[in-house]
Amino acid sequence: MLMIPGPTPVPEKVLLAMAKHPIGHRSGEFSQIIAETNENLKWLFQTQNTVMALCASGTGTIEAAIINFLSAGDRVIVGVNGKFGERWAQIAKAYGLNVQVVSAEWGAALNPEDIAQALKADPGVKAVVITHSETSTGVLNDLEAINKVVKDNSDALIIVDAVTSLGSYNIPVDEWGIDVIGSGSQKGFMLPPGMGFITASDKAWAAYEKATLPKFYLDLGKYRKAADKKSTPFTPPVNLYFGMKVALEMMKAEGLESIFARHTRHKEATRAAMKALGLPLFAPDTHASPAVTSVVPEGVDAEKIRSVMKKRFDIALAGGQDHMSGKMFRMGHLGFVSDRDILCAISALEATLQELGHKTPDSGVIAASERLQKG
Ligand SMILES: Cc1ncc(COP(=O)(O)O)c(C=O)c1O
Repeated sequence: MLMIPGPTPVPEKVLLAMAKHPIGHRSGEFSQIIAETNENLKWLFQTQNTVMALCASGTGTIEAAIINFLSAGDRVIVGVNGKFGERWAQIAKAYGLNVQVVSAEWGAALNPEDIAQALKADPGVKAVVITHSETSTGVLNDLEAINKVVKDNSDALIIVDAVTSLGSYNIPVDEWGIDVIGSGSQKGFMLPPGMGFITASDKAWAAYEKATLPKFYLDLGKYRKAADKKSTPFTPPVNLYFGMKVALEMMKAEGLESIFARHTRHKEATRAAMKALGLPLFAPDTHASPAVTSVVPEGVDAEKIRSVMKKRFDIALAGGQDHMSGKMFRMGHLGFVSDRDILCAISALEATLQELGHKTPDSGVIAASERLQKG
């Protein structure tokens, strides 16, 4: 049972849809699947612009954002409060951009005011890169506020890593005027790993015309042109498309509001359970990710918890990353997750703590169940 923040569980209907012989990617039959999934991706991204599907993971979408809309020497601000923000700064530097990091401690949210100050100090900044849900810490940055300070203080593009927030949190991409936003199939999409999704605003496409970094396989112009003709520039992962067709149909049937409400409910139930169990949360309630809950246990070893959960109950939890390795566990509740999954994982965690001789002040199951009952 995958209670990690990706890969996430895949519905049986989606698995069965993929369990077929591939078809020709230039066939009329496949064109129809592309046409339908393109429309449904636009619905999910809340945009009228083309959503381009890449045969790449989430990282590929942010690398594509950097190389398609920027040029060597451009000044960019990267928000860093965890591992993924650090990665975007590394990629931007690798491509010769002039990177200014605006940071916050791991476990804290980026302060929009810090970004406003950095933009005021350097009016020539071409882009601000933000990780919305920082999966390494379980912090949800305030994208709406950051987007507003970017718009109020500059003409910069806002480039958003929504790898674990797209499909779990409301991001009205067009309404907010998000310029570039990327995500990955193994997260909120109820699909296996292997695809990345990215969309760009008119302003970003205008920047694309002037951007001079070299690109070929990740040249988004090729993907847009092909997508608009119900095609792909290169051989796509055909069977993942079969799965995506069904996954998006399931998401449409549930509805965006219900999907977001379910993630909020699961986040709050998980956090209530951790508090009842006396397990300290790493991210504050005000900025907690709807996709993953990060816990730094005291008096009980995080790795032992993960090991018992896996061996006794076959439930996978993620560990900490970089300097938090060995000190943290992270419980994912992203994508195809039900109330039953949350209660199952929490009760297994409670049993694990009991087995490890760790005294818990209260029942996590009761705390989670009370929150879930509220709907
Ligand atoms: C917020 C965030 N950004 C980027 C990535 C990288 O995605 P991928 O491993 O699909 O390249 C991840 C993966 O967990 C993530 O959680």
